[in-house]
Amino acid sequence: MKKILVMHGPNLNLLGVREPGIYGRNSLASINEEIVLKCNREGMDCVVYQSNSEGELISRLHDAMNQFDGVILNAGAYTHYSYAIRDAISAIRLPVVEVHMSNVAAREEFRHTSVIAPVCAGSIVGFGKNSYLLAVDAIKELI
Ligand code: DQA
Repeated sequence: MKKILVMHGPNLNLLGVREPGIYGRNSLASINEEIVLKCNREGMDCVVYQSNSEGELISRLHDAMNQFDGVILNAGAYTHYSYAIRDAISAIRLPVVEVHMSNVAAREEFRHTSVIAPVCAGSIVGFGKNSYLLAVDAIKELI
């Protein structure tokens, strides 16, 4: 069975509490439940992971190389400036789908740049928790 890793970056542990007008009222735990259910329905195994630390996210990407067929990644604010996460994505040579819950293009200028987008297979942006569920459909076609 194909296996995917779903990664949430900094501050996403606070979903449900954090700026609900932007990110909604669902907790990360409830979103993770929906992601895992959808993966299983689609015949894939799924592990979810969250970290607030850039280094831990990078190490997890490295470990993913030998354990997973693909990655769904919401890198949070690291998206906009972490060349280290970008390099990790390039290094592992697994398909990575970039996800954002909010429509970053409609927000502050600094969110308009994604330094990871060029090394990801594609990006799904602006559909709230459904961004993750759409990413499951996308990754299924890539692995
Ligand atoms: C986010 C968008 C980022 O700009 C922000 O820093 C986040 C969440 C999103 O899912 O919309 O932490 O990645």
